[in-house]
Amino acid sequence: MSSDIKNGLKQLDEKELYEIARLKKLNIPRNWSKTLIVELLALNVSTQDIRNIGTKPLEKRIESRDVSAIIVKDLVKQFEDVTAVDGLSLEIKQGELFGLLGPNGAGKTTTINILSGILKPTKGTAIIAGFDVTKNLEEIKTVIGVCPQEAAVFKFLNARENIELFGNLHGIPKKELEERTDTFLELLGLAEASKRMAKGYSGGMLRKLNLIMALISDPKIAFLDEPTVGMDPRARRKTWEFIGSLKDQNKTIILTTHYIEEAEALSDRVGIIDYGKLIELGTPQELMERYETKNLEQVFLKITGRRILEGI
Ligand SMILES: Nc1ncnc2c1ncn2[C@@H]1O[C@H](COP(=O)(O)OP(=O)(O)O)[C@@H](O)[C@H]1O
Ligand SMILES: [Mg+2]
Repeated sequence: MSSDIKNGLKQLDEKELYEIARLKKLNIPRNWSKTLIVELLALNVSTQDIRNIGTKPLEKRIESRDVSAIIVKDLVKQFEDVTAVDGLSLEIKQGELFGLLGPNGAGKTTTINILSGILKPTKGTAIIAGFDVTKNLEEIKTVIGVCPQEAAVFKFLNARENIELFGNLHGIPKKELEERTDTFLELLGLAEASKRMAKGYSGGMLRKLNLIMALISDPKIAFLDEPTVGMDPRARRKTWEFIGSLKDQNKTIILTTHYIEEAEALSDRVGIIDYGKLIELGTPQELMERYETKNLEQVFLKITGRRILEGI
C-alpha cells in the first residue's frame, strides 16, 4: 500500500507535489529534492489525495490552444437498421468553434449525444478533454455544457428560475450565479421575459434559455445542437454575436447546424457530414476555394448533387 502511494507520488511533477503538501498543510522547504518530498508525503497522504491531484494535469493539458479538446475515433452508432454515425473521425482543438454541418438526418444530433454521454457508441470512442466517453463520463460532465436539440426546461418556472436551478446543481456560488444570469439574459435579450413562466415562451426564446443553461457553469467545452432553430432573423443575429463572443474566452464550441449561413458566419472550421460520414473538413474559406464556390451550400451540392436544406 505504501509503495503504491510512493509510486503514485513519483508520477506527479514538483508543482503537484507542493500542491498536495499545501492541501495537507505540510510545510516543505523549497530546496528539498523530489525524492525527499515523496518520502515525506508518502507518510501523510492517501491514494485518494494523489488521485485528486492526479486529475489536474488533464485540466492543464486543455488549457493550451494547441491541444485537442476533442478526439473522435472511428465512431459508429447503429439504430437497428439505420447507421446514424458511420465511422466518424475528427479532432477539434481547444478554443476552436467547430461547425458540424449537414442536412436533416445526417447524424449531427446523434454525434453530439454520444460526445456528451447521452448515447453510447456502437463502436469507436471519443476523448473529451482527455477523458474517454466510454469510460470517464463523470469527469466529462464536469467540463462540458450541452444545449440539446429539443428544449429541456421546466415550463412552470421562469427563465431565471430555470437557470438558477441548473446553476445550483453545478454548485455555482450564489452571487456569481446571479451576476452571470443577469449578464447572459441581457446579452441574449431575454431579460424582460425572464420573470414570465417558460410555458409561454416561443421556440426561439426556449433556445436562448437552453443556451444560457448550457453555459451557466462556464464550461470549457460546449455542445450546441441547432442553437438558433425557431428564431427570427434578429434573434438569430443576436445569438450569433453571443456565440461568437464565447470564442474570446477560449472556449471550445461544437455547433451543429443545417443553416449554411450560420456555419459560415461562426465556424473556425466546419465538418460537413452526410449519412453519418464526414465528407469534407476545413475552414469555410478553404472549402470554398477547394471547390471554387461562393458558399458552403454549393460545396455540398458539388460533392453530393443535393442541397443541404432539402434534407434527405
Ligand atoms: N433513437 C433513434 N432510433 C432510431 N433511429 C434514430 C434515432 N435517433 C436518430 N435516428 C436516425 O439516425 C439518423 C440521424 O439522425 P440525427 O442524428 O438526429 O440527424 P441530424 O441531427 O443530423 O438531423 C436519422 O436517420 C434518424 O432517423
Ligand atoms: Mg439534429
